[in-house]
Amino acid sequence: MTGGGFSVSAPAAAGTEFEAKITPIVIISCIMAATGGLMFGYDVGVSGGVTSMNDFLEKFFPKVYRKKNQSGVESNYCKYDNQGLQLFTSSLYLAGLTATFFASYTTRRFGRRITMLIAGIFFIAGVIFNGAAQNLDMLIVGRILLGCGVGFANQAVPLFLSEIAPTRIRGGLNILFQLNVTIGILFANLINYGTSKIHPWGWRLSLGLAGIPAFLLTFGALLVVDTPNSLIERGRLDEGKAVLRRIRGTDNVQSEYDEIVGASEAARQVKHPFRNLLKRRNRPQLVIAVAMQIFQQFTGINAIMFYAPVLFNTLGFKSDASLYSAVITGAVNVLSTVVSIYSVDRLGRRALLLEAGVQMFLSQVVIAAVLGVKLTGDQSEGLGKGWAVLVVLMVCVFVSAFAWSWGPLGWLIPSETFPLETRSAGQSVTVCTNLLFTFVIAQAFLSMLCKMKYGIFAFFSGWVLIMSVFVFFFLPETKNVPIEEMTERVWKKHWFWKRYVLDEQDDHDFLDGKTAAAAANGSGGRKVLAAVEP
Ligand code: BGC
Repeated sequence: MTGGGFSVSAPAAAGTEFEAKITPIVIISCIMAATGGLMFGYDVGVSGGVTSMNDFLEKFFPKVYRKKNQSGVESNYCKYDNQGLQLFTSSLYLAGLTATFFASYTTRRFGRRITMLIAGIFFIAGVIFNGAAQNLDMLIVGRILLGCGVGFANQAVPLFLSEIAPTRIRGGLNILFQLNVTIGILFANLINYGTSKIHPWGWRLSLGLAGIPAFLLTFGALLVVDTPNSLIERGRLDEGKAVLRRIRGTDNVQSEYDEIVGASEAARQVKHPFRNLLKRRNRPQLVIAVAMQIFQQFTGINAIMFYAPVLFNTLGFKSDASLYSAVITGAVNVLSTVVSIYSVDRLGRRALLLEAGVQMFLSQVVIAAVLGVKLTGDQSEGLGKGWAVLVVLMVCVFVSAFAWSWGPLGWLIPSETFPLETRSAGQSVTVCTNLLFTFVIAQAFLSMLCKMKYGIFAFFSGWVLIMSVFVFFFLPETKNVPIEEMTERVWKKHWFWKRYVLDEQDDHDFLDGKTAAAAANGSGGRKVLAAVEP
């Protein structure tokens, strides 16, 4: 690196630890992550409790309110089957996935910090609309604004974190984000439990208290500096270097600085990040990232997270017991995520996913069987006490398995397998796919519950089986592999994926059309490339 220009020094050897202290500024970043994750989790957790509150239903969904309180008229399973009600939950995710594409642009063009600030402002606006809602339109507009917040925050916060974290705590910090998602969900469940006793405006408090994490995120984004990577990417080299010194707490940052400059130079060569992502050599990571998101949602977790109170109510629990049970599952979710922080780098990703597969499959089968036998026909009195306790217990067994596997790993694995040049586009695709399938579950679950009844749990258990087989054959272990060595040590060695990466050089941008065609046909592309390479 010379005189502040963009000449590129050789990057440090792959896997090198750069000198770094855990400085106050890194601690502040953790708090940032906490608020971004809290906000996402709060939005996930709050809607189920609110939609089971009578005051809320009477005001916005009088039809559902009447159906719910008219016993014996309809099957238990169909009490909440209402598209509008599902839209209240799902609109957030639809808005979020749309916002991701804008967020991808703003993270690159204006930086991570500004993108988090935009997220915070969307959150505050959404909370105001929701807390003050007079009609369904205001409610939905509020949810859409919150969704935009989620789209921007989930794109920027994980990137911000992984760029600001010293290498040795990067994995832990990543799961910390998920831990805060689960804390946000639990916090929402607890608040719902309290506010359900405040009539007739308790629900306003539930929706309005999301203002706390929203405000914290906004305030935090105003306080912190942008990441050195983002500053350097946008040509602010000296500032980037100064920030790097500050966050690492040392003047010895030259080699890390050179590596960032090198990486950002390489990233600049990529004119169309999303098109680049579609190239053959990036196929394995793309397929894994997309599959992880689809599978994560098809575990059925959000049927529980969104609709636990509604679900328990469907099983015949009283309102209070439903909200109370949701608090229990929320707490199990938080505690089990801690298990994953501890074990992910010891046992490895595959072991956690495969063990959890068995646990999730069995618990869902038991739930389906109990409901199938005990909650039949149009009876509306629900399960007996003993059976109800068994169902709650099985839901806890299911949630704990999810929380130490697909919950955090669904986010961790895509973030650690993409090479730098596709990492940010890869993150957008990851977030977008996740929110798309979250939307699908949010919009469809209550109708599916009505139509498929207990079979819905058998349906999800089938998916758990499929994803476990996928993990067994197609997901390589990434434990303890330095992030920039994934291609060499993981993908090129995998029995299936190696065929995509071994000829990775073949479609490099600088190949002319003829060579690329030869490469694509497998007719000696590599040899031609060797000849043209310096
Ligand atoms: C998922 C969310 C889910 C949460 C539950 C996250 O990893 O993306 O959809 O609600 O885990 O803890």
